[in-house]
Amino acid sequence: MAEILGLGMTHYPLLAGRDENMAGLLRGTLRDPDIPAEEKDPSRWPAGMQAEWGDDEGRAAAPGHRADLVEHLDRCRKAVDDFAPDAIVVWGDDQYENFREEVVPPFCVLAYDDIDVHPFEVMNEFGNPNAWGLADDMTFTLHGNRSWSRTLTDRLIGSGFDMAYSYRKREGAHFPHAIANTQLFLDYHHAGREFDVPIIPITVNCYGRHAIARRGGLAKFAEIWQEETDPSGPSPARCMELGRGVARALAADDRRYVFVASSSWSHAFLTDKLWHIRPDTAADMELYDAFIAGDYERWRRTTGTDVVDAGQHEMLNWFCLLGAMEELGAPLNWSTMVTTDVFNSNKCFALFDPVSTDAAHRSTATGTTPAVSA
Ligand SMILES: [Fe+2]
Repeated sequence: MAEILGLGMTHYPLLAGRDENMAGLLRGTLRDPDIPAEEKDPSRWPAGMQAEWGDDEGRAAAPGHRADLVEHLDRCRKAVDDFAPDAIVVWGDDQYENFREEVVPPFCVLAYDDIDVHPFEVMNEFGNPNAWGLADDMTFTLHGNRSWSRTLTDRLIGSGFDMAYSYRKREGAHFPHAIANTQLFLDYHHAGREFDVPIIPITVNCYGRHAIARRGGLAKFAEIWQEETDPSGPSPARCMELGRGVARALAADDRRYVFVASSSWSHAFLTDKLWHIRPDTAADMELYDAFIAGDYERWRRTTGTDVVDAGQHEMLNWFCLLGAMEELGAPLNWSTMVTTDVFNSNKCFALFDPVSTDAAHRSTATGTTPAVSA
């Protein structure tokens, strides 16, 4: 029987850059000529946001934000090391990287063997040097397991979940940074280069109506007002179903798996109603409260429209993880939420108690009362 550890973390790209650029997304947003001047005026921002922004556009606050994130990433890494997994299943979004106009699968198992990944290529496009002072074209090997990925896909299809799969990255495409940054940040102190646990990526079309329309999410309002939106992505409830299906599909293996949700929560640059200035922290905290209370039904009731309205597109990765944890009856062990107004997104971290699928099969899997320290 399998042993499974659930983990949630951020893949915030700007953590891979230097502190002086960490608030770069907000600085770019403030250059959008179609955002009303009063919205851009820091004196009208919430007090906490003004304090973070300071008189240097967030530069002084950046080291503290980095320190918080690295502390929590270290805790997650220690849990992974203590658990000693055979493989890590990661739910991460493809942000107009591998999947573009040719095809956008709702979900796709990347059934790759080892692949060399350029973790800084997205940052390089913005002229943002990496935080480690390494060569911009540095690569690391992201270990995969084509055979296990193929088996997972086959079992999902056999159990009624029609899963797409891919054996090869599109020629010239960026490898999805949600997956690459999972390795980069779990192995933060070595910039991802000394991490050798195989990763089984499952991409989630988190961007849905904006997948092609916004080509990765960053868009000016002049474009947004003209945009022709795409079909929606998978619903939050469907993502939870996928999580449950993956847990069941791997339950019979005599292996140790970590299941990872890779994403921040509300993103400022996706929260149209707040003019992309800051994330929807109220919406995040409502879901976070339900999360630590083990209220999976609150999560299941969340609609795709709710998620888009709150700029929480990428949280679909977390809906997948929560479905799996619900299926397994895994108690939440620890969680914390790092909120911010100027560094684009709120970042949640979580660790569940490892569970044996033996126990899970005896469980009613209807939610738990977790012990949580914030
Ligand atoms: Fe992302």
